[in-house]
Amino acid sequence: MALILGIESSCDETAVAVIDGAGSTLAARIVAQRIASQDDEHRPYGGVVPEIAARAHAETLAPMVGAVLDDAGLTLADMDAIAATAGPGLIGGVMVGLVTAKALAMAADKPLIAVNHLEGHALSARLAEPGLAFPYLLLLASGGHCQILEVRGLGQYRRLATTIDDALGEAFDKTAKILGLGFPGGPAVERLAREGDARAVPLPRPLLGSAEPHFSFAGLKSAVMRARDAGIHASADIAASFQQAAIDCVIDRTRRALAASGPVTALVVAGGVAANAALRAALTALAAEAGLPLVAPPPKLCTDNAAMIGWAGAERFAAGFTDPLDALARPRWPLDPDAEPVRGAGVKA
Ligand code: KG4
Ligand code: ZN
Repeated sequence: MALILGIESSCDETAVAVIDGAGSTLAARIVAQRIASQDDEHRPYGGVVPEIAARAHAETLAPMVGAVLDDAGLTLADMDAIAATAGPGLIGGVMVGLVTAKALAMAADKPLIAVNHLEGHALSARLAEPGLAFPYLLLLASGGHCQILEVRGLGQYRRLATTIDDALGEAFDKTAKILGLGFPGGPAVERLAREGDARAVPLPRPLLGSAEPHFSFAGLKSAVMRARDAGIHASADIAASFQQAAIDCVIDRTRRALAASGPVTALVVAGGVAANAALRAALTALAAEAGLPLVAPPPKLCTDNAAMIGWAGAERFAAGFTDPLDALARPRWPLDPDAEPVRGAGVKA
């Protein structure tokens, strides 16, 4: 039985978890976890401020490790390994988490596991669904990433699609800002969209029908801004129409990726935007059309958390992968380093 301490600090959530790699259910696998959101610190600025995030992680993380071990009724000596996000993400926060993990690993003489945050999201489906087998098709949609990957195994990813401009979560966040809904934007847009008419505002569906399954959301965001400036539509109608346009794009692109991938056992959605109920419903229908199960982790495992980092650590530990104490914190760390750059893509791809 491997017990793993997991640490996440790559964006604006400070999170710690104890994971039991041998657990056979979700509840048994997550022994204890805590998460502290920094929403209140960043809200006045309308987005995540890297310096504020790093300072907040530094303040919160060490006491949280103690509290989570107490919750679990365990000590550092009981852990088999210490896993932490080593990137990609805001480098100040990543360094706080990784250095904390290194210090704990050194003090307790435990192996360190440097986890790719995106692999944490990718494997969160196997944490939630113990039976989920490789290979599966993954739609990874968060604030910083929007990709479709064939997950072939631990550390084995083939990227089929990426965004040429904004990530899906970023499009939700910008729409929220345009509509004055505050921060964080995704859940606020989803709530308001429930009160609106998704057919009220004609909005573009960028790249719909294009041959490769890539994404683009910048044009949609500009159209949302024009719709607001026109002053004739209710905010709820704009929110609902935006959400529908974004989902139409995601479904079309994912359908294209399913056709381009090899055989898979399931369609999986992960990352913060996977918490969106309308998106989940549309993906459920798409998976049924493809004759595949849809695996969507519970919303709390979709947004950033430490359980997924501890779980990725448990999977890596079981496969014999550990990392040296000089492992680097990496601001950029693609899951598929061989993926070709996409024509027309900005720096984020
Ligand atoms: O995975 P995550 O917690 O952090 C990153 O690694 O980016 O994803 C956060 C993103 C944000 O853009 C947030 O607005 C979006 O996920 N999000 C949502 C919802 N909940 C979170 N977007 C749409 N609907 C939601 N319910
Ligand atoms: Zn994330």
